[in-house]
Amino acid sequence: MTSSAPFRLDGRVALVTGAGTPTGIGNQVARAYVAAGARVALADLDAEGARRNAGELGAGAMGLGADVTDPASVAAAVSEVTQAMGPVDILVNSAGITRRAKVWEFTLEEFDLVMAVNVRGGLICLQAVVEGMKQRGWGRVIWLSSIAGKQGGGVFGSAHYACSKAAVIGLCQGAARDLGPFGITSNAIAPGLVLTGMVGRVAGGEVEQQLADQISASAPMRRPGVAADIAAAALFFASEEAGYVTGEVMDVNGGAYMD
Ligand SMILES: NC(=O)c1ccc[n+]([C@@H]2O[C@H](COP(=O)([O-])OP(=O)(O)OC[C@H]3O[C@@H](n4cnc5c(N)ncnc54)[C@H](O)[C@@H]3O)[C@@H](O)[C@H]2O)c1
Repeated sequence: MTSSAPFRLDGRVALVTGAGTPTGIGNQVARAYVAAGARVALADLDAEGARRNAGELGAGAMGLGADVTDPASVAAAVSEVTQAMGPVDILVNSAGITRRAKVWEFTLEEFDLVMAVNVRGGLICLQAVVEGMKQRGWGRVIWLSSIAGKQGGGVFGSAHYACSKAAVIGLCQGAARDLGPFGITSNAIAPGLVLTGMVGRVAGGEVEQQLADQISASAPMRRPGVAADIAAAALFFASEEAGYVTGEVMDVNGGAYMD
């Protein structure tokens, strides 16, 4: 592929959070970005997992530990990435958690934790890289929302998760307003069910299969998503070509929900 091919990321540095599981969206986004010519830092609470995934991507990738709920941990990770690869041009906020629980079941502490990782964590990461992006007049911030944020949960996410993913849309669009004048875009992806480790862990194998069957029977594209479907959208948002797209929330759900 030549550098004039579309959706190339040559010379760019990306930080992808939540990239510590082998089957997860973050790891797949990292793979797509390395294939497009970027250097990519994979960060996760699970530092070992992030390093393992990065190791499979070769010299264009590094893995490191970071807790997105902790500004000091994120600042240390950004500093390590900047020293090793240069300043971060592209931030993908993929770290996320959920638990299946009815609205009367989860504790306030669990609610706070889901918000701390899924919403506040993305903001902490944005704030850690945004000054450099502003100075350079170029940047891409990409958020992982969810179909759950648009329809009150319902796939496997609960009310706290739905709340966090709706809040991500507000944060993404508010950031788009503030960052646009600096040449920085802010966009979100709202996946439907994607068969990653998260779904199996949260729902359990049997329920995961039921959900997949349900979607395969009813959604227009007749299959659940795979991480590569989401990575394709993340590659578009990161690209030069998407420079006039900001504040957008792209549904990648096989038509399971349309608005
Ligand atoms: N899988 C789906 O069906 C689906 C659907 C819609 C949206 N999403 C969103 O996509 C994103 C990625 O999900 P996934 O399916 O790849 O899940 P995943 O579990 O494979 O990846 C999430 C990663 O986030 C990491 N993480 C959790 N807390 C963290 C913290 N405090 N600091 C840093 N990392 C932390 C986990 O260790 C894990 O590696 C999440 O934000 C999720 O909510 C997933």
